[in-house]
Amino acid sequence: MELGAPACPPPPWRRRLLCSAALVLFLCLWVTSKADQQLAELPPRGWNSYDSFSWIVDENAYMQNAKILAEKLLPHGYQYAVIDFLWYRRYVDGAYTDSYGFDNIDEWGRPFPDLQRFPSSKGDKGFGQIANKVHEMGLKFGIHLMKGISTQAFNANTPILDIHTGKSYVENGREWTARDIGLVHRTCAWMPHGFMSVNTDIGAGRAFLRSLYRQYADWGVDFVKVDCIFGTDYSPKEITTVSELLREHDRPIVLSISPGTEVTTALAENISEYVNMYRITGDDWDNWKDVSSHFTVSSTFAAANKIGAMGLRGRSWPDLDMLPFGWLTDPGANQGPHRTCNLTFDEQKSQMTLWSMARSPLMYGGDLRHLDDSTLSIITNPTLLKINHYSKNNMQFHYVHGERTSIMGDSGHLSSEDLTKHDGMIVGLTSCADEKANGWFVLSQDGKSDHICRNYGTGNSKNISFCLGKTKPLLASDDVIMDNEEYQEKFHLGVVDINDSCLDASASRRQTASETNLLMFSRCKWHAKQMWELNDRGNLVSSYSRLCATVESSKEGVGVTGLRAWIATGNKGEIYLAFFNLDSTNRKISARISDLEKVLGKAFVRKHSCSCTEVWSGKNLGVVTEEISAVVNPHGSVLFEMTC
Ligand SMILES: *[C@@H]1O[C@H](CO)[C@@H](O)[C@H](O)[C@H]1NC(C)=O
Ligand SMILES: *[C@@H]1O[C@H](CO)[C@@H](O)[C@H](O)[C@H]1NC(C)=O
Ligand SMILES: *[C@@H]1O[C@H](CO)[C@@H](O)[C@H](O)[C@H]1NC(C)=O
Ligand SMILES: *[C@@H]1O[C@H](CO)[C@@H](O)[C@H](O)[C@H]1NC(C)=O
Repeated sequence: MELGAPACPPPPWRRRLLCSAALVLFLCLWVTSKADQQLAELPPRGWNSYDSFSWIVDENAYMQNAKILAEKLLPHGYQYAVIDFLWYRRYVDGAYTDSYGFDNIDEWGRPFPDLQRFPSSKGDKGFGQIANKVHEMGLKFGIHLMKGISTQAFNANTPILDIHTGKSYVENGREWTARDIGLVHRTCAWMPHGFMSVNTDIGAGRAFLRSLYRQYADWGVDFVKVDCIFGTDYSPKEITTVSELLREHDRPIVLSISPGTEVTTALAENISEYVNMYRITGDDWDNWKDVSSHFTVSSTFAAANKIGAMGLRGRSWPDLDMLPFGWLTDPGANQGPHRTCNLTFDEQKSQMTLWSMARSPLMYGGDLRHLDDSTLSIITNPTLLKINHYSKNNMQFHYVHGERTSIMGDSGHLSSEDLTKHDGMIVGLTSCADEKANGWFVLSQDGKSDHICRNYGTGNSKNISFCLGKTKPLLASDDVIMDNEEYQEKFHLGVVDINDSCLDASASRRQTASETNLLMFSRCKWHAKQMWELNDRGNLVSSYSRLCATVESSKEGVGVTGLRAWIATGNKGEIYLAFFNLDSTNRKISARISDLEKVLGKAFVRKHSCSCTEVWSGKNLGVVTEEISAVVNPHGSVLFEMTC
């Protein structure tokens, strides 16, 4: 972890003088923070409209939620009030997530709020008035954004605003327009009719993005959640460009990126320093499979010291997604909210416990107008929130024992039944630097080199090859782009003997956290997500995300079972130990105090008897010696606060 003390600012000499005196250290820190405001020093907290409204939230419902957020949750640190996606789409018959033609765009191709849903934005005010009101409540204002440019702006071929001149962007003596910057073969895989990437290699592409983010800053936005830019939609150039544009503003704006499908630490490695939070799974909804699929991935990010690592103007946080509790809608719905959360209270507490132990941002997703007391008590538990903000040494603890298992490995224990149920291989994506990305080769048969294969299978099992047929990309309707030499060497990959099914590097809809087999086959079309190239290192590279394909026997995630434990430490020497039971029957779980000492050292484990309280129940367990254990409900958790 990179949690060093804030450094003194560099010269001028007067500051150095201040800093040299320990007595006035606080002054020095004050000067530092004035000079360079620190963003997301703690994992951000707030409310987001997606889980309860999908895309249809309006000003009235949003302001009502913001008011309750300010009253009930702001005292617990929940400060960002975020309007999720498609706030520029008209809510009329025929409009839905991937509909075309219902979006408001201004003369410069920029989205502006739907006036029916957000009446205060009339008269070119955008979200300015809403932001003001939200700020008056002591909250911060956030919005969701898609990558790049909208297809409507592209088709309308709108001019690009140069914010420095207030006129059309001119370079090399000509005005540039939307069609110069939109990349039609890189539409968002899960919203292909809505948005496409822009070419950030050219000045006009950057000027367009600058015109968007300048406007958001002018509106008073404090938080942007930029979607279709990470995970299987990995667009590193756009992420770094947006990050640099945000640095140009005086207004500090938190940068959150999505989605998190197939995210690995290697993928986050070069990106985390440009952002403040980044999703590490697909969408989290209120079913146990989604919750349980967060355990392994969050432990790998903890082990890689990514929790609270350097970020944009401050720190960055692996984001486990919203807390979908309370009063909700359904994924992909055109309405909401209309139903209660499917998770049991035990499951909700387990989710809150993991999110806190892993120091994830906490964004409540339910409609706050229907917030009940039990849910409120879960999301405002003071010890959990303290752990979430201030704990250290957060990690999975591997030395837990259960009735049927001994030491838990990272991958957990799949029963043989689980394995046979989900046996077979799946194609996944990973960073091309990952060893698992190697090993693809061209198989020549009958003098034709038209198959790409990779061996898989481990240990004694014999080599099995997984092969796909290689074809030239289908013809695009747009001849201009087909002439582009960049695509001459690329190919589609199909299932041998099956017509019209191409390997697809990103899902055509938003995936949930438990849907792990993302790379699947879909109807062949001319889109970067179906184009591949084989390099001489044996990597099969996706043209869409530049990530590499890998073949694995089916992963855990779908059928995660077993036991998990996490540990963390408090600033007064406390140890937090959480047990999770991912099984559907009661399990007795225990851990030895000597193993806690092995992991945390004598600084935290001074003796082998610990005073101990269970946090959720508040029950004081007195002094425990040698071993601590508990019977944990199905999908439940216990959380001990211990002093040893
Ligand atoms: C990260 O950046 C370094 C240096 O530019 C590069 O060598 C490495 O391959 C990058 N890693 C990934 C996963 O892109
Ligand atoms: C919640 O439960 C209902 C009823 O069983 C089910 O139809 C729905 O798909 C569930 N929602 C999620 C997000 O799992
Ligand atoms: C399996 O494949 C590897 C790499 O292609 C090769 O080195 C090895 O000899 C093969 N093993 C068997 C048992 O065929
Ligand atoms: C496969 O494609 C060919 C040519 O387009 C077509 O005639 C045939 O019916 C297709 N077969 C199947 C099973 O779809």
